Amino acid sequence: MVDLRVNERKTLSALEKSGGKTSVEQLIHESGLPDAAVMRTALTLQEKGLVKVHEEKKTRAKLNDEGKAHAKKGLPERRLLSALKKLRGKASLENVAEEADLEKNSIPIALGWIQKKKWAVLDTKTNTLQVLERAEEGKDERILRLLNEKGQVVVEDLNKEQQEAIQVLKRRKLLNIKGKIKRIFEITDAGLAALRERKEAIEEVTQLTPELIMTRKWQRVKLIKFDVTAPGPSVYPGKMHPLQQIIQRAREIFLELGFTEIRGPLVETAFWNFDALFQPQDHPAREMMDTFYLASPKTGKLPSKNIVNSVASVHENGWVTGSKGWGYDWSHDEAKRLVLRTHTTAETIKYLAEHKKPPIKVFSVDRVYRNEQLTYKNTAEFHQIEGIVVDENVTLRDLMGTMKTFYTKFGLKKTEFWPCYFPYTEPSAQAMVYHPKLKRWIELCGMGIFRPEVTAPMGIKCPVLAWGGGLERLAMIELGLDDIRMLYGNRLEWLRRTPLCQ
Ligand code: PHE
Repeated sequence: MVDLRVNERKTLSALEKSGGKTSVEQLIHESGLPDAAVMRTALTLQEKGLVKVHEEKKTRAKLNDEGKAHAKKGLPERRLLSALKKLRGKASLENVAEEADLEKNSIPIALGWIQKKKWAVLDTKTNTLQVLERAEEGKDERILRLLNEKGQVVVEDLNKEQQEAIQVLKRRKLLNIKGKIKRIFEITDAGLAALRERKEAIEEVTQLTPELIMTRKWQRVKLIKFDVTAPGPSVYPGKMHPLQQIIQRAREIFLELGFTEIRGPLVETAFWNFDALFQPQDHPAREMMDTFYLASPKTGKLPSKNIVNSVASVHENGWVTGSKGWGYDWSHDEAKRLVLRTHTTAETIKYLAEHKKPPIKVFSVDRVYRNEQLTYKNTAEFHQIEGIVVDENVTLRDLMGTMKTFYTKFGLKKTEFWPCYFPYTEPSAQAMVYHPKLKRWIELCGMGIFRPEVTAPMGIKCPVLAWGGGLERLAMIELGLDDIRMLYGNRLEWLRRTPLCQ
């Protein structure tokens, strides 16, 4: 006695109705079951010995574009031969090729085959081609004709000669060939007997429901086992872009440290981007190569006269700061020019012009622009993490401590501070981190204490700790990237496999 499940019974009787032996397609049609269910059931029926599965290979061959062209015009060697015959059976290779009107790259092929088929011979000394014997239609030409007429053939249904010819055309790359396994199911005697038994089919259940329990039907049904090791389909739910996640994390760390976020416009006057930061007007960084200047409108508004005049004096002679300044004539027009901000330090200094009362702790994570060539390490737009701390007694140690805390919270254990130079800070330093993948130290951010030339025109008396650095670099370390362009490339595959950060 064999227990039949519902689908097994359906499949078996569909098979019986189809004459006991039939294809999958027919079984699907006859049983009304979904494809996958028929395949699965047929396999279990085969295991139980109720069905036999015969596999037949069906190879379909079709002419490709080149094959079709040959079917129309004749194989290149045939065309060469016809041309040779027109030229009375003997002629220079050049003339025959021209007469045959063959494409340049087909000539060597035609020549190779015409000799292999012994239709003609080439005298290499004189480069003349001579007809050898009557060239009858070959099996390759016959199959070419057949393929052209029928569109496609099933290789297994062809005779031996035709199958050989198919191989020849296949080697000449004139065919598209696709193999398919065709399965035929046959009901066995045991299968027929099982159908006759007329036992009630066992119902299969994938989920236990309250009804099944209350009606005690669960005792009669078969609960299907789940294969918990089977891989599930991959799902790609929408999520925040990895770069946005890093931005979010940087923000959260500063907020945790008690900072307030500030933001400013992408377009700034050169005044805030450069002049207020004591960068001389002929500073190389201002030149067209680094800075994007706006074409229209070209200029913007300067702040109050007070601030502008003090900045001008600082540049010209140092004003009240004890510095000698840069010693040139400061130009209003140059300061008014509009730029895409090249750093977010433009925002912190602008903030200081309006907020003077310590303590101040502000930060920004925002976009900046520089006219850089696009490479694995540079893009023309990127983000900076910027901030300032203003208070009575803060020092460089506090600055290094703040930065160290930020990077540690970010997950970077080993950071160092190296001395360096910025026109607007003294002392100046840069935070460095070792990139394990690139195997070198990379600069994370510039920092320092604003010089009096910067703070005095804003009316700030306390020390100002300032820093600003790249966010993409942090992202690259965090995400294990060695090419910054990945962050902006919208490569779906990478976006999908990059997990959400914790
Ligand atoms: N603005 C500098 C840069 O873009 C970084 C910096 C900010 C340096 C603040 C010192 C102080 O590289």
